[in-house]
Amino acid sequence: MPDKKEKPAPKIEPKDDLMEKIVSLCKRRGFVYPGSEIYGGLANTWDLGPVGVELKNNIQQAWWKFFVQSRRDMVGIDAAIIMNPKVWESSGHVANFSDAQVDCKDCKKRVRADHLIEDNVEIKVEGLSLEDLGKLIAENNLRCPGCGGKNWTEVRRFNLLFRTNIGPTTANNEPVYLRGEIAQGMFVDFKNVLMSARKKVPFGIAAAGKAFRNEITPGNFIFRTLEFDLMEFEYFIRPEMWEAKFNYWMDEMHKWLDVVGIRKDKTRIREHTKDELSFYSKRTADIEYNTPFGWKELYGLAYRTDYDLKNHQEKSGEDLTYFDAETNEKYIPHVLEPTFGLSRTVLMTLLSAYDEEEVTDSKGEKEVRVVLRFKPKIAPYKAAILPLMKKPELTAKADEVYDSLRNDFVMDYDVTGSIGKRYRRQDEIGTPFCITIDYDTLEDQAVTVRDRDTMKQDRIKIAELKDYLAGKINI
Ligand code: GAP
Repeated sequence: MPDKKEKPAPKIEPKDDLMEKIVSLCKRRGFVYPGSEIYGGLANTWDLGPVGVELKNNIQQAWWKFFVQSRRDMVGIDAAIIMNPKVWESSGHVANFSDAQVDCKDCKKRVRADHLIEDNVEIKVEGLSLEDLGKLIAENNLRCPGCGGKNWTEVRRFNLLFRTNIGPTTANNEPVYLRGEIAQGMFVDFKNVLMSARKKVPFGIAAAGKAFRNEITPGNFIFRTLEFDLMEFEYFIRPEMWEAKFNYWMDEMHKWLDVVGIRKDKTRIREHTKDELSFYSKRTADIEYNTPFGWKELYGLAYRTDYDLKNHQEKSGEDLTYFDAETNEKYIPHVLEPTFGLSRTVLMTLLSAYDEEEVTDSKGEKEVRVVLRFKPKIAPYKAAILPLMKKPELTAKADEVYDSLRNDFVMDYDVTGSIGKRYRRQDEIGTPFCITIDYDTLEDQAVTVRDRDTMKQDRIKIAELKDYLAGKINI
Protein backbone atom coordinates (compact mmCIF):
# COMPACT_ATOMS: atom_id res chain seq x y z
CA MET A 1 0.00 0.00 0.00
CA PRO A 2 1.39 3.44 -0.83
CA ASP A 3 2.09 5.88 1.99
CA LYS A 4 -1.04 7.97 2.62
CA LYS A 5 0.83 11.21 1.94
CA GLU A 6 2.32 9.91 -1.29
CA LYS A 7 0.26 10.87 -4.34
CA PRO A 8 0.09 8.11 -6.96
CA ALA A 9 2.17 8.97 -10.03
CA PRO A 10 0.02 10.00 -12.97
CA LYS A 11 -0.56 7.14 -15.38
CA ILE A 12 1.37 7.39 -18.63
CA GLU A 13 -1.20 6.85 -21.29
CA PRO A 14 -0.31 4.74 -24.27
CA LYS A 15 -0.25 6.51 -27.60
CA ASP A 16 -2.81 4.24 -29.23
CA ASP A 17 -5.49 6.92 -29.03
CA LEU A 18 -3.06 9.25 -30.75
CA MET A 19 -5.65 10.57 -33.19
CA GLU A 20 -8.02 11.64 -30.38
CA LYS A 21 -5.14 13.31 -28.57
CA ILE A 22 -4.06 15.19 -31.68
CA VAL A 23 -7.61 16.35 -32.50
CA SER A 24 -8.09 17.56 -28.93
CA LEU A 25 -4.69 19.28 -28.76
CA CYS A 26 -5.31 20.93 -32.15
CA LYS A 27 -8.54 22.51 -30.92
CA ARG A 28 -7.30 23.42 -27.42
CA ARG A 29 -4.10 25.04 -28.63
CA GLY A 30 -5.35 26.65 -31.86
CA PHE A 31 -4.09 24.44 -34.70
CA VAL A 32 -7.41 23.26 -36.16
CA TYR A 33 -11.06 23.93 -35.31
CA PRO A 34 -14.20 22.31 -36.75
CA GLY A 35 -15.54 24.50 -39.61
CA SER A 36 -18.60 26.73 -38.87
CA GLU A 37 -18.72 25.27 -35.37
CA ILE A 38 -21.16 27.77 -33.83
CA TYR A 39 -23.75 26.64 -36.40
CA GLY A 40 -23.24 22.98 -35.62
CA GLY A 41 -20.37 22.61 -38.08
CA LEU A 42 -20.27 21.40 -41.69
CA ALA A 43 -19.02 17.86 -42.29
CA ASN A 44 -15.47 17.56 -43.61
CA THR A 45 -14.62 21.24 -43.30
CA TRP A 46 -12.03 22.53 -40.85
CA ASP A 47 -10.50 25.90 -40.00
CA LEU A 48 -6.87 26.55 -39.14
CA GLY A 49 -6.32 28.52 -35.95
CA PRO A 50 -3.49 30.94 -35.10
CA VAL A 51 -0.75 28.30 -34.76
CA GLY A 52 -2.23 26.07 -37.49
CA VAL A 53 -1.96 28.77 -40.12
CA GLU A 54 1.66 29.50 -39.14
CA LEU A 55 2.48 25.78 -39.40
CA LYS A 56 0.82 25.48 -42.82
CA ASN A 57 2.49 28.63 -44.17
CA ASN A 58 5.91 27.51 -42.89
CA ILE A 59 5.51 24.13 -44.62
CA GLN A 60 4.40 25.77 -47.85
CA GLN A 61 7.30 28.25 -47.78
CA ALA A 62 9.82 25.46 -47.09
CA TRP A 63 8.35 23.42 -49.97
CA TRP A 64 8.51 26.39 -52.35
CA LYS A 65 12.11 27.05 -51.37
CA PHE A 66 13.13 23.39 -51.69
CA PHE A 67 11.40 22.61 -54.99
CA VAL A 68 11.21 26.00 -56.73
CA GLN A 69 13.47 28.80 -55.51
CA SER A 70 16.58 26.72 -54.95
CA ARG A 71 16.46 25.14 -58.43
CA ARG A 72 17.30 26.59 -61.83
CA ASP A 73 14.94 24.20 -63.65
CA MET A 74 11.77 25.25 -61.81
CA VAL A 75 9.44 28.25 -61.87
CA GLY A 76 6.16 28.89 -60.11
CA ILE A 77 2.74 30.24 -61.07
CA ASP A 78 -0.50 31.03 -59.27
CA ALA A 79 -3.39 30.22 -61.62
CA ALA A 80 -7.08 31.08 -61.17
CA ILE A 81 -9.26 28.68 -59.19
CA ILE A 82 -12.16 29.17 -61.59
CA MET A 83 -11.15 28.32 -65.15
CA ASN A 84 -12.96 28.10 -68.46
CA PRO A 85 -15.12 24.92 -68.11
CA LYS A 86 -13.62 23.63 -71.35
CA VAL A 87 -10.39 23.06 -69.41
CA TRP A 88 -12.12 20.38 -67.31
CA GLU A 89 -13.79 18.82 -70.33
CA SER A 90 -10.46 18.59 -72.19
CA SER A 91 -8.60 17.29 -69.14
CA GLY A 92 -11.08 14.42 -68.80
CA HIS A 93 -12.28 15.46 -65.34
CA VAL A 94 -15.90 16.09 -66.39
CA ALA A 95 -16.13 12.56 -67.76
CA ASN A 96 -13.84 10.60 -65.46
CA PHE A 97 -13.21 12.32 -62.13
CA SER A 98 -15.74 10.40 -60.07
CA ASP A 99 -16.32 8.02 -57.16
CA ALA A 100 -18.65 5.02 -57.09
CA GLN A 101 -21.19 5.76 -54.38
CA VAL A 102 -24.25 4.06 -52.95
CA ASP A 103 -27.18 5.48 -50.92
CA CYS A 104 -29.06 3.93 -48.01
CA LYS A 105 -32.75 4.16 -48.94
CA ASP A 106 -33.77 4.14 -45.25
CA CYS A 107 -31.58 6.78 -43.61
CA LYS A 108 -30.37 8.46 -46.86
CA LYS A 109 -26.69 8.11 -45.88
CA ARG A 110 -24.40 8.13 -48.91
CA VAL A 111 -21.14 6.15 -48.77
CA ARG A 112 -18.31 5.32 -51.15
CA ALA A 113 -18.85 1.81 -52.44
CA ASP A 114 -15.13 0.94 -52.32
CA HIS A 115 -14.83 2.13 -48.70
CA LEU A 116 -17.96 0.21 -47.65
CA ILE A 117 -16.62 -3.03 -49.15
CA GLU A 118 -12.93 -2.71 -48.20
CA ASP A 119 -13.77 -1.68 -44.62
CA ASN A 120 -15.79 -4.87 -44.13
CA VAL A 121 -14.43 -7.53 -46.46
CA GLU A 122 -10.82 -8.58 -47.09
CA ILE A 123 -10.86 -7.66 -50.75
CA LYS A 124 -9.39 -5.02 -53.08
CA VAL A 125 -11.99 -3.58 -55.43
CA GLU A 126 -9.98 -1.32 -57.75
CA GLY A 127 -11.08 -1.62 -61.34
CA LEU A 128 -14.38 -3.40 -60.62
CA SER A 129 -17.49 -2.30 -62.52
CA LEU A 130 -20.43 -0.60 -60.78
CA GLU A 131 -22.41 -3.80 -61.21
CA ASP A 132 -19.69 -5.92 -59.55
CA LEU A 133 -19.47 -3.47 -56.65
CA GLY A 134 -23.25 -3.72 -56.15
CA LYS A 135 -23.05 -7.53 -56.22
CA LEU A 136 -20.29 -7.54 -53.57
CA ILE A 137 -22.38 -5.31 -51.28
CA ALA A 138 -25.40 -7.60 -51.63
CA GLU A 139 -23.49 -10.93 -51.43
CA ASN A 140 -21.67 -9.85 -48.26
CA ASN A 141 -24.85 -8.48 -46.65
CA LEU A 142 -23.11 -5.18 -46.00
CA ARG A 143 -24.99 -2.91 -43.62
CA CYS A 144 -25.36 0.87 -43.65
CA PRO A 145 -22.91 2.47 -41.18
CA GLY A 146 -25.66 5.02 -40.39
CA CYS A 147 -28.71 2.89 -39.52
CA GLY A 148 -27.58 -0.73 -39.85
CA GLY A 149 -30.05 -1.39 -42.68
CA LYS A 150 -29.35 -3.19 -45.98
CA ASN A 151 -31.71 -1.25 -48.22
CA TRP A 152 -29.19 0.09 -50.77
CA THR A 153 -29.71 1.88 -54.07
CA GLU A 154 -27.72 0.64 -57.05
CA VAL A 155 -24.09 1.82 -57.15
CA ARG A 156 -23.71 5.05 -59.17
CA ARG A 157 -20.88 7.32 -60.21
CA PHE A 158 -20.79 10.87 -58.81
CA ASN A 159 -18.50 13.50 -60.27
CA LEU A 160 -16.16 15.09 -57.72
CA LEU A 161 -15.93 18.54 -59.31
CA PHE A 162 -17.75 21.28 -57.41
CA ARG A 163 -20.06 23.15 -59.76
CA THR A 164 -20.95 26.78 -59.45
CA ASN A 165 -22.27 29.56 -61.66
CA ILE A 166 -20.97 32.92 -62.79
CA GLY A 167 -23.71 35.55 -62.41
CA PRO A 168 -27.35 34.75 -61.61
CA THR A 169 -28.30 31.12 -62.14
CA THR A 170 -30.56 30.56 -65.13
CA ALA A 171 -31.46 27.45 -67.07
CA ASN A 172 -29.05 28.23 -69.91
CA ASN A 173 -26.26 29.47 -67.68
CA GLU A 174 -23.29 27.14 -68.21
CA PRO A 175 -21.78 25.88 -64.93
CA VAL A 176 -18.16 26.50 -64.04
CA TYR A 177 -16.09 24.32 -61.72
CA LEU A 178 -13.89 24.96 -58.71
CA ARG A 179 -10.60 23.30 -59.59
CA GLY A 180 -10.32 19.66 -58.55
CA GLU A 181 -6.53 19.74 -58.93
CA ILE A 182 -4.15 22.63 -59.47
CA ALA A 183 -2.25 20.85 -62.24
CA GLN A 184 -4.49 22.14 -65.04
CA GLY A 185 -3.30 25.72 -64.50
CA MET A 186 0.24 24.57 -65.25
CA PHE A 187 -0.81 22.90 -68.52
CA VAL A 188 -2.99 25.78 -69.65
CA ASP A 189 -0.19 28.29 -68.94
CA PHE A 190 2.54 26.06 -70.43
CA LYS A 191 3.07 28.17 -73.53
CA ASN A 192 3.01 31.47 -71.62
CA VAL A 193 5.59 30.21 -69.15
CA LEU A 194 7.75 28.81 -71.93
CA MET A 195 7.80 32.17 -73.71
CA SER A 196 8.15 34.43 -70.66
CA ALA A 197 10.52 32.41 -68.46
CA ARG A 198 12.61 31.10 -71.40
CA LYS A 199 12.99 27.62 -69.91
CA LYS A 200 14.35 24.62 -71.76
CA VAL A 201 13.12 21.02 -71.36
CA PRO A 202 13.58 19.49 -68.85
CA PHE A 203 11.97 22.08 -66.60
CA GLY A 204 9.08 22.28 -64.19
CA ILE A 205 6.16 24.57 -63.32
CA ALA A 206 4.98 24.54 -59.71
CA ALA A 207 1.93 25.89 -57.90
CA ALA A 208 0.34 25.75 -54.47
CA GLY A 209 -3.20 26.57 -53.48
CA LYS A 210 -6.70 25.33 -52.76
CA ALA A 211 -8.34 22.40 -54.54
CA PHE A 212 -11.96 21.29 -54.14
CA ARG A 213 -13.54 17.84 -54.30
CA ASN A 214 -17.15 17.02 -53.63
CA GLU A 215 -16.41 13.78 -51.85
CA ILE A 216 -17.90 11.94 -48.94
CA THR A 217 -15.46 10.79 -46.35
CA PRO A 218 -15.47 8.62 -43.25
CA GLY A 219 -14.03 11.43 -41.11
CA ASN A 220 -10.39 11.10 -40.04
CA PHE A 221 -10.00 14.76 -39.18
CA ILE A 222 -8.24 16.84 -41.89
CA PHE A 223 -7.10 13.78 -43.87
CA ARG A 224 -9.82 14.02 -46.52
CA THR A 225 -11.82 17.23 -46.79
CA LEU A 226 -14.00 19.06 -49.28
CA GLU A 227 -11.45 21.80 -49.84
CA PHE A 228 -7.78 21.33 -49.15
CA ASP A 229 -4.37 22.82 -49.82
CA LEU A 230 -2.25 21.21 -52.48
CA MET A 231 1.30 21.78 -53.74
CA GLU A 232 2.33 20.16 -56.99
CA PHE A 233 4.47 20.55 -60.06
CA GLU A 234 4.52 19.40 -63.64
CA TYR A 235 8.02 18.49 -64.79
CA PHE A 236 8.27 18.57 -68.60
CA ILE A 237 10.66 16.07 -70.17
CA ARG A 238 11.60 14.32 -73.39
CA PRO A 239 9.59 11.05 -73.46
CA GLU A 240 12.64 8.79 -73.18
CA MET A 241 13.70 10.45 -69.92
CA TRP A 242 10.65 9.38 -67.98
CA GLU A 243 11.92 6.38 -66.03
CA ALA A 244 15.16 8.01 -64.88
CA LYS A 245 13.32 11.19 -63.90
CA PHE A 246 10.60 9.19 -62.11
CA ASN A 247 13.26 7.65 -59.86
CA TYR A 248 14.99 10.99 -59.42
CA TRP A 249 11.81 12.73 -58.25
CA MET A 250 10.90 9.90 -55.90
CA ASP A 251 14.30 10.41 -54.23
CA GLU A 252 13.75 14.18 -54.01
CA MET A 253 10.33 13.62 -52.47
CA HIS A 254 11.99 11.51 -49.77
CA LYS A 255 14.55 14.26 -49.12
CA TRP A 256 11.61 16.61 -48.61
CA LEU A 257 10.24 14.31 -45.87
CA ASP A 258 13.41 15.09 -43.89
CA VAL A 259 13.12 18.82 -44.56
CA VAL A 260 9.56 19.00 -43.23
CA GLY A 261 10.07 16.49 -40.40
CA ILE A 262 7.86 13.60 -41.48
CA ARG A 263 9.07 10.30 -40.01
CA LYS A 264 10.43 8.16 -42.85
CA ASP A 265 10.14 5.03 -40.72
CA LYS A 266 6.36 5.58 -40.87
CA THR A 267 6.23 5.76 -44.66
CA ARG A 268 6.34 3.30 -47.55
CA ILE A 269 6.12 3.48 -51.33
CA ARG A 270 3.10 1.85 -52.96
CA GLU A 271 2.86 1.36 -56.72
CA HIS A 272 -0.62 1.74 -58.21
CA THR A 273 -1.95 -1.37 -59.91
CA LYS A 274 -2.98 -1.05 -63.54
CA ASP A 275 -6.68 -1.01 -62.58
CA GLU A 276 -6.21 1.72 -60.06
CA LEU A 277 -4.23 4.20 -62.18
CA SER A 278 -5.89 7.60 -62.68
CA PHE A 279 -7.26 8.11 -66.16
CA TYR A 280 -4.28 10.31 -67.08
CA SER A 281 -1.45 8.20 -65.66
CA LYS A 282 0.78 5.48 -67.07
CA ARG A 283 2.57 4.89 -63.77
CA THR A 284 1.85 6.21 -60.27
CA ALA A 285 3.56 5.51 -56.98
CA ASP A 286 2.28 6.88 -53.67
CA ILE A 287 4.22 7.66 -50.54
CA GLU A 288 1.96 6.32 -47.82
CA TYR A 289 2.02 7.08 -44.10
CA ASN A 290 1.15 4.62 -41.37
CA THR A 291 -1.55 6.68 -39.61
CA PRO A 292 -3.55 5.53 -36.57
CA PHE A 293 -6.33 4.75 -39.10
CA GLY A 294 -4.15 2.64 -41.40
CA TRP A 295 -1.69 3.10 -44.28
CA LYS A 296 -2.88 6.16 -46.19
CA GLU A 297 -1.74 8.14 -49.22
CA LEU A 298 0.37 11.14 -48.32
CA TYR A 299 1.95 12.09 -51.67
CA GLY A 300 1.84 10.79 -55.23
CA LEU A 301 4.19 10.71 -58.19
CA ALA A 302 2.53 10.21 -61.57
CA TYR A 303 3.83 9.84 -65.12
CA ARG A 304 1.10 11.71 -67.03
CA THR A 305 2.79 11.18 -70.41
CA ASP A 306 1.72 13.86 -72.94
CA TYR A 307 -1.94 13.21 -72.06
CA ASP A 308 -2.76 16.72 -70.83
CA LEU A 309 -0.84 18.90 -73.29
CA LYS A 310 -2.01 16.75 -76.19
CA ASN A 311 -5.66 17.03 -75.15
CA HIS A 312 -5.43 20.77 -74.55
CA GLN A 313 -3.73 21.26 -77.91
CA GLU A 314 -6.43 19.26 -79.67
CA LYS A 315 -9.39 20.92 -77.93
CA SER A 316 -8.09 24.51 -77.77
CA GLY A 317 -6.49 24.55 -81.21
CA GLU A 318 -3.37 26.19 -79.72
CA ASP A 319 0.03 24.81 -80.64
CA LEU A 320 1.47 23.43 -77.38
CA THR A 321 4.55 21.82 -78.89
CA TYR A 322 8.07 22.53 -77.76
CA PHE A 323 10.85 23.31 -80.22
CA ASP A 324 14.25 21.95 -79.28
CA ALA A 325 16.74 24.31 -80.97
CA GLU A 326 19.65 21.93 -80.38
CA THR A 327 18.12 18.91 -82.12
CA ASN A 328 15.76 20.85 -84.40
CA GLU A 329 12.86 18.73 -83.14
CA LYS A 330 9.33 19.79 -82.37
CA TYR A 331 7.37 17.64 -79.92
CA ILE A 332 4.85 17.65 -77.10
CA PRO A 333 6.80 17.18 -73.86
CA HIS A 334 5.88 14.36 -71.48
CA VAL A 335 5.22 15.13 -67.84
CA LEU A 336 6.11 13.81 -64.41
CA GLU A 337 3.93 15.08 -61.61
CA PRO A 338 4.98 14.98 -57.95
CA THR A 339 1.94 16.01 -55.89
CA PHE A 340 1.90 16.94 -52.22
CA GLY A 341 -1.27 17.37 -50.19
CA LEU A 342 -0.42 20.32 -47.95
CA SER A 343 -3.33 19.70 -45.57
CA ARG A 344 -2.18 16.09 -45.28
CA THR A 345 1.39 17.27 -44.69
CA VAL A 346 0.08 19.35 -41.77
CA LEU A 347 -1.56 16.22 -40.33
CA MET A 348 1.43 13.90 -40.87
CA THR A 349 3.82 16.53 -39.49
CA LEU A 350 1.67 16.70 -36.34
CA LEU A 351 1.60 12.88 -36.09
CA SER A 352 5.38 12.68 -36.59
CA ALA A 353 6.12 15.46 -34.10
CA TYR A 354 3.83 14.28 -31.27
CA ASP A 355 5.66 12.91 -28.25
CA GLU A 356 4.95 12.23 -24.60
CA GLU A 357 7.54 11.81 -21.89
CA GLU A 358 7.53 11.43 -18.13
CA VAL A 359 9.17 14.34 -16.33
CA THR A 360 9.54 15.43 -12.72
CA ASP A 361 8.09 18.83 -11.88
CA SER A 362 9.57 21.46 -9.53
CA LYS A 363 7.84 19.79 -6.54
CA GLY A 364 9.42 16.45 -7.39
CA GLU A 365 6.19 14.97 -8.73
CA LYS A 366 6.05 12.99 -11.92
CA GLU A 367 3.92 14.22 -14.81
CA VAL A 368 3.52 13.58 -18.50
CA ARG A 369 4.95 16.22 -20.79
CA VAL A 370 3.34 16.46 -24.22
CA VAL A 371 5.69 17.95 -26.77
CA LEU A 372 5.47 18.55 -30.50
CA ARG A 373 9.02 18.06 -31.74
CA PHE A 374 8.66 20.09 -34.95
CA LYS A 375 11.72 21.00 -36.98
CA PRO A 376 12.46 24.57 -35.78
CA LYS A 377 11.93 25.97 -39.29
CA ILE A 378 8.44 24.48 -39.45
CA ALA A 379 7.38 25.31 -35.87
CA PRO A 380 4.60 27.97 -35.68
CA TYR A 381 6.61 30.10 -33.26
CA LYS A 382 10.41 30.05 -33.12
CA ALA A 383 10.47 31.38 -29.57
CA ALA A 384 8.20 32.52 -26.74
CA ILE A 385 8.96 35.57 -24.64
CA LEU A 386 7.98 34.90 -21.04
CA PRO A 387 8.33 37.58 -18.33
CA LEU A 388 8.72 35.61 -15.08
CA MET A 389 5.95 37.62 -13.42
CA LYS A 390 3.40 40.19 -14.51
CA LYS A 391 5.36 43.11 -12.98
CA PRO A 392 5.81 46.32 -15.00
CA GLU A 393 9.61 46.29 -14.72
CA LEU A 394 9.72 42.71 -16.09
CA THR A 395 7.10 43.17 -18.82
CA ALA A 396 8.81 46.39 -19.98
CA LYS A 397 12.09 44.48 -20.38
CA ALA A 398 10.24 41.58 -22.06
CA ASP A 399 8.64 44.04 -24.53
CA GLU A 400 12.12 45.36 -25.32
CA VAL A 401 13.44 41.83 -26.00
CA TYR A 402 10.36 41.01 -28.10
CA ASP A 403 10.79 44.18 -30.18
CA SER A 404 14.48 43.47 -30.76
CA LEU A 405 13.66 40.06 -32.31
CA ARG A 406 10.26 40.45 -33.97
CA ASN A 407 11.59 41.38 -37.40
CA ASP A 408 13.63 38.18 -37.54
CA PHE A 409 11.46 35.57 -35.82
CA VAL A 410 7.76 34.82 -35.43
CA MET A 411 7.27 34.64 -31.66
CA ASP A 412 4.65 34.19 -28.98
CA TYR A 413 4.46 36.43 -25.91
CA ASP A 414 2.84 34.96 -22.81
CA VAL A 415 2.50 36.51 -19.40
CA THR A 416 -0.34 34.46 -17.86
CA GLY A 417 0.04 31.53 -15.45
CA SER A 418 3.00 29.94 -13.73
CA ILE A 419 6.21 29.63 -15.71
CA GLY A 420 5.90 25.81 -15.57
CA LYS A 421 2.42 25.96 -17.14
CA ARG A 422 3.65 28.38 -19.78
CA TYR A 423 6.54 26.02 -20.68
CA ARG A 424 4.05 23.14 -21.04
CA ARG A 425 1.84 25.24 -23.32
CA GLN A 426 4.79 26.11 -25.54
CA ASP A 427 5.85 22.43 -25.59
CA GLU A 428 2.37 21.52 -26.81
CA ILE A 429 2.58 23.94 -29.73
CA GLY A 430 6.15 22.93 -30.49
CA THR A 431 7.96 26.22 -29.77
CA PRO A 432 11.69 25.37 -29.89
CA PHE A 433 12.84 28.06 -27.42
CA CYS A 434 11.34 29.77 -24.35
CA ILE A 435 13.01 33.01 -23.33
CA THR A 436 12.43 34.00 -19.72
CA ILE A 437 12.99 37.51 -18.44
CA ASP A 438 13.59 37.59 -14.65
CA TYR A 439 14.87 40.06 -12.07
CA ASP A 440 18.50 39.13 -12.84
CA THR A 441 17.85 40.24 -16.44
CA LEU A 442 17.48 43.82 -15.20
CA GLU A 443 21.00 43.57 -13.72
CA ASP A 444 22.96 41.38 -16.15
CA GLN A 445 21.12 42.08 -19.45
CA ALA A 446 20.85 38.33 -20.00
CA VAL A 447 17.87 35.97 -20.34
CA THR A 448 17.26 32.26 -19.74
CA VAL A 449 16.74 30.29 -22.95
CA ARG A 450 15.10 26.90 -22.47
CA ASP A 451 15.41 24.28 -25.20
CA ARG A 452 12.10 22.48 -25.96
CA ASP A 453 13.67 19.06 -26.57
CA THR A 454 16.36 18.81 -23.90
CA MET A 455 14.71 21.25 -21.43
CA LYS A 456 18.26 22.51 -20.77
CA GLN A 457 18.57 26.19 -19.94
CA ASP A 458 21.28 28.58 -21.17
CA ARG A 459 21.91 32.07 -19.89
CA ILE A 460 22.37 34.30 -22.97
CA LYS A 461 23.15 38.02 -23.21
CA ILE A 462 20.29 39.94 -24.86
CA ALA A 463 22.80 41.43 -27.31
CA GLU A 464 23.72 37.90 -28.48
CA LEU A 465 20.20 36.47 -28.54
CA LYS A 466 19.47 37.03 -32.22
CA ASP A 467 22.62 35.23 -33.40
CA TYR A 468 22.10 32.48 -30.83
CA LEU A 469 18.56 31.76 -32.10
CA ALA A 470 19.48 32.12 -35.78
CA GLY A 471 22.28 29.57 -35.33
CA LYS A 472 20.01 27.08 -33.59
CA ILE A 473 17.11 27.54 -36.00
CA ASN A 474 19.46 27.56 -38.97
CA ILE A 475 17.86 30.51 -40.78
N1 GAP B 1 -2.78 16.51 -59.71
C1 GAP B 1 -2.75 15.20 -59.17
C2 GAP B 1 -3.68 15.01 -58.09
O1 GAP B 1 -4.48 15.88 -57.77
P1 GAP B 1 -4.43 13.24 -56.29
O2 GAP B 1 -3.77 11.98 -55.84
O3 GAP B 1 -5.86 13.14 -56.71
O4 GAP B 1 -3.53 13.80 -57.47
C3 GAP B 1 -3.07 14.88 -54.81
O5 GAP B 1 -4.32 14.34 -55.15
C4 GAP B 1 -2.84 14.88 -53.31
O6 GAP B 1 -3.84 15.69 -52.70
C5 GAP B 1 -2.96 13.52 -52.63
O7 GAP B 1 -1.72 12.85 -52.66
C6 GAP B 1 -3.35 13.91 -51.22
O8 GAP B 1 -2.20 14.25 -50.47
C7 GAP B 1 -4.16 15.18 -51.42
N2 GAP B 1 -5.62 14.99 -51.39
C8 GAP B 1 -6.40 14.42 -52.34
N3 GAP B 1 -7.69 14.48 -52.00
C9 GAP B 1 -7.76 15.13 -50.80
C10 GAP B 1 -8.82 15.51 -49.94
N4 GAP B 1 -10.09 15.29 -50.23
N5 GAP B 1 -8.50 16.16 -48.78
C11 GAP B 1 -7.22 16.42 -48.47
N6 GAP B 1 -6.18 16.08 -49.26
C12 GAP B 1 -6.43 15.45 -50.41
